[in-house]
Amino acid sequence: MSSLQIQHTISGAREVIRQWLASGESVVLVPTMGNLHAGHMSLVNRARSLADRVVVSIFVNPLQFGPNEDFEAYPRTPEQDQELLEGADVDLLFEPSVEEMYPDGKEGTAVVEVPGISDVLCGAHRNGHFVGVVTVVTKLFNIIQPTVAVFGEKDFQQLFIIRRMVEDLNSPVQVVSVPTRREDDGLAMSSRNRYLSPEQRSVAPGLYATLQQVAQQVQSDDDSLEDIEDWGKRQLEELGFVPDYLSIRERHGLSTPSPSDLDLVVLVAARLGSVRLIDNLVIDRV
Ligand code: PAJ
Repeated sequence: MSSLQIQHTISGAREVIRQWLASGESVVLVPTMGNLHAGHMSLVNRARSLADRVVVSIFVNPLQFGPNEDFEAYPRTPEQDQELLEGADVDLLFEPSVEEMYPDGKEGTAVVEVPGISDVLCGAHRNGHFVGVVTVVTKLFNIIQPTVAVFGEKDFQQLFIIRRMVEDLNSPVQVVSVPTRREDDGLAMSSRNRYLSPEQRSVAPGLYATLQQVAQQVQSDDDSLEDIEDWGKRQLEELGFVPDYLSIRERHGLSTPSPSDLDLVVLVAARLGSVRLIDNLVIDRV
């Protein structure tokens, strides 16, 4: 029998967690926006081994969506999500309303900002996005008080920025990351994949294929990284994508690589029609 509890209020979640902490049990948090897929569930499975009690949050956070983005249309599948979590040995689902999280509205709330890195790559194309992400993650950390929180490497820049927030604000939460889960054809699993038409879905694996070709060129060609980035963007355009960016970075600081940097990552965001897909691939320069 499932032991999943569901709480929609902050005070209700706090009460459940207070009892666990009082009996010496540790708590791990997996923050999500719901419409759960196998990528999310690999985070949940990892979480199970990290603490006594697993909490999953589902909250489509308005603060991280721009005015012309898909907040209203973002897929919401609460019954299906609940079933998945019941079968995954999760202890608490925290599913608050927007009013519960932002009683003074999104303009009225204090925010948390990691400067600099929040304004490049996805941040340059989604104004205010990472302030919204880091603010809600900070609130969730304060509400749930986990010892550990699990995030996916699929959102590489998000993971990087959350680690920076934890470090800069001396948060006691340990951040653990999980590799990107992909469909058989290489497409990174994402809640937004369901927006793709059959035709777009057949093109979509080209995003990851392009990253693999970029990685191969970095390892085997003498071309400059800029030339390889340009090649990757042209390749995406030929496949039918409209790239927002394709950028090779040093992977521990996300800076532009110097010739001596060997630990790299290529990050990409590209649109197929109105669907924006992101992905990344770690590259070890040899
Ligand atoms: P969401 O897109 O629902 O993703 C929740 C978590 O699942 C994130 O840590 C994300 O990196 C991870 N994830 C998504 N797809 C994955 C895949 N294919 N493989 C592995 N992990 C995957 O990211 C967010 O929500 C929000 O920004 C959030 C952090 C919850 C703040 O609102």
